[in-house]
Amino acid sequence: MRQTMKRDVITISDVSDSEIDEIFSLADEFLGGKDSGAHRVSGRRHQADAYLMATLFYEPSTRTRFSFEAAMKRLGGEVVGGADPATTSAAKGESVLDTVRVMESYTDLIVLRHPCEGAARAAAEHVGVPVINGGDGRHEHPTQTLCDLYTLRRELGGETLRDLNVLLIGDLKNGRTVHSLVYGLARFGANVITMAPPGLGLPSEVSRRLEEDYGRKPELGSQIFDNENGGARIGAMYIAPDSQLKTAISRAQLPRANLHFDGEFVEGDGVKISIDVCYVTRRQGERVSRDETVSSEYPVIDAKFLSAKRYKDTRVLHPLPRVGELGYDLDRDQRGVYFKQAAYGVPIRMALISKLLGISPFSTSRPQGPQHDLYRHGEKMQCANDRCITNHAVERRQLTPKFWLVRPTPKFPKISLRCTYCETDFEPPFYGRVGERSLHANAGVPDEMDWWKIVLFANEQEARMAGLEMSASAQS
Ligand code: CP
Repeated sequence: MRQTMKRDVITISDVSDSEIDEIFSLADEFLGGKDSGAHRVSGRRHQADAYLMATLFYEPSTRTRFSFEAAMKRLGGEVVGGADPATTSAAKGESVLDTVRVMESYTDLIVLRHPCEGAARAAAEHVGVPVINGGDGRHEHPTQTLCDLYTLRRELGGETLRDLNVLLIGDLKNGRTVHSLVYGLARFGANVITMAPPGLGLPSEVSRRLEEDYGRKPELGSQIFDNENGGARIGAMYIAPDSQLKTAISRAQLPRANLHFDGEFVEGDGVKISIDVCYVTRRQGERVSRDETVSSEYPVIDAKFLSAKRYKDTRVLHPLPRVGELGYDLDRDQRGVYFKQAAYGVPIRMALISKLLGISPFSTSRPQGPQHDLYRHGEKMQCANDRCITNHAVERRQLTPKFWLVRPTPKFPKISLRCTYCETDFEPPFYGRVGERSLHANAGVPDEMDWWKIVLFANEQEARMAGLEMSASAQS
């Protein structure tokens, strides 16, 4: 029986904390109980006998597609779909939005992976069956995060991730798995330490959301977070071109931290901080555009790197595939849990499928909706992210861009628009108000404002065509 209101999982924010707990409990059952020690599912059940799932993968995948397919088949359901868009009518120019409209009439659930950010959200808006995001460009990969958090719970024991020190290593700019993961870690109270090659740190909008939506306080180029509840001290390290690490220090009320050149992470009083988790990611070569310059340095995490005492009990996770940044010597090291992490993809995705198909419906609270108002005047505005689905030459014919209006804060003093599809933030340079002719620079915006009246402009010409004239403040 289908749930009365369909549920999509496009970002990790689409599942509440209590729903994540429910997914984990059900995954435990599929593994034979919480303390079974198993990491793979065996046998077949018959809960999903009546259901068909579509897997539409416009990008390569091993774990996500095969574990979704294995999960559906372990539940007794069937799968249709494809891994090669060249063999579907996408090769003839059919849009992904038309494709999902067709597939919803054949199947009960769609898993979509697509290179454009926001593709899964757009697809979900166009169909009446649940859509699961199997990764959209560099935006998010929420089911990977469910696997990651579950791995931590299962491998580290205990019910909580609070105060774990989690070191994120690699391409944090382009890696969609870490974008979903940092929100999940923040929600469950873990500390985040980032270590990225130059230019590959977390995107500013991710840091901003960590601060505004999850109560974390990014510092020093958005690479440091501290927990205002006083439970955490979190720093960051960068690998600089000269291989020296820039020091980054938490300003929490706890002792300040220093980061030595060898990567030692020490509190101001000399107490060494142990790292509970190293989450390693590969260089996302396929997402780097030709005109981008990227550092040739990239961290390699192997037994030598982990020889320091602070890594004695570290668990090493990696969403895989690995392409040189994760030593094979860790395969024989009990700290390396990445193959179990991949194996947990089956019970986790079985649980998620069961929830979304209503076989084992969620019984707890849904996540709260977005905190921002929908921007009302965005008909002519384009998303600033050229990889957004709304800017795709084919898909844009069927999509109208939509934005959340993100109000200024002392730290971010300009009005921002956040694309509802790819969640990229941008700051149009001018604004006016409905019913007024003055055009203002998007800076130093007054606190008191009829926000629904705000009209933003990408340039002056657009504003002039709408009949607005520069005010003195905009000219200065
Ligand atoms: N972790 C992950 O998404 O792997 P695949 O790209 O192989 O699906």
